[in-house]
Amino acid sequence: MRKGVIAFLIVNLIVIGFLVNAVFTLITLLFEDCSADAIHSSEIPAPNSILIDQRPQLIPKIIHQTWQNETIPERWQAAQQSCVDLHSDYEYKLWTDAKSREFIATEYPWFLETFDNYPYPIMRADSIRYFILAHYGGIYVDLDDGCNRRLDPLLSYNAWVRRTVPTGISNDAMGSVPQHPFFLRVIESLQLYNRNWRVPYITVMYGTGPLFLSVIWKEYIRWGTTEEGRVRVLMPDEYNKNSWSFFAVYKGSSWHAGDAKAIFWMGQHWLLITFAGFALAGCLYGTGFIIYKRLHLKNTNYNEKPTSSWFPWRRNTPTGAGFKRLSQHEV
Ligand SMILES: *[C@@H]1O[C@H](CO)[C@@H](O)[C@H](O)[C@H]1NC(C)=O
Repeated sequence: MRKGVIAFLIVNLIVIGFLVNAVFTLITLLFEDCSADAIHSSEIPAPNSILIDQRPQLIPKIIHQTWQNETIPERWQAAQQSCVDLHSDYEYKLWTDAKSREFIATEYPWFLETFDNYPYPIMRADSIRYFILAHYGGIYVDLDDGCNRRLDPLLSYNAWVRRTVPTGISNDAMGSVPQHPFFLRVIESLQLYNRNWRVPYITVMYGTGPLFLSVIWKEYIRWGTTEEGRVRVLMPDEYNKNSWSFFAVYKGSSWHAGDAKAIFWMGQHWLLITFAGFALAGCLYGTGFIIYKRLHLKNTNYNEKPTSSWFPWRRNTPTGAGFKRLSQHEV
């Protein structure tokens, strides 16, 4: 083998090594059933149960939501109002783009440059929610999630996230005490994960979105945590499926909005998108290899080996005009 090819293979191996390392966490995520930290149906009192008042309140009574400005689109007003109405004794904070930036600039100036330079606005909307939970604590709720009952029982944990099917966790509803080690770790990890993956979905999902959060979470729980450091997991039945669930998803109406539609679709299908992204990256990479191989042989000694061995379909295509032209060009 030629030196160039060997160097190319070594670079390949290094890149593949990095990918395997990243994919390892993703694969272990696939087998994570959250059983160790799941919030069980049996431990959540029914909506009007007297047991609710006997539970400790750790998370502060604040509901956080985000939108670009103070004008909430009509399609989400009912969802937003349902949370406000049920929690008149909670503080309600709407984080507009302007307020979010001001908050980062004042409290987390080391992050401002990253925050300002995110290529997609959704990445600012994703990252700000981690900072406000780490800073103030409280419960973050996406604008398209309405409240189906009071969230009080969820204040009894140090932190919680929401399980998504088939795997991982989402960032559309989360709660935390201030300065919780998980959310501190999340905000510390944002810069490291801020990479341009060329595929916008991957850049968003793996940079700030549910995939990013799931990977950080998986690594966080790998070696166990203290009781205070524990992150409990809200399971699908308690999320939105039943009369006793905490949230009622108003997605029916929000799905008419163009860009928001794509964003929520991405949020719900991040696993599919991720694997599609890796498959695409693999194809591009393979194509790059074929092109390299072909150019390399062509530029050095093309008579030595028929390049068509890299194009098995060409061996039996005697009549394809396009292929003929290519072949002639080579010789
Ligand atoms: C909020 O943003 C929307 C969409 O960009 C715009 O139509 C609306 O006028 C803005 N509202 C205010 C109060 O700035």
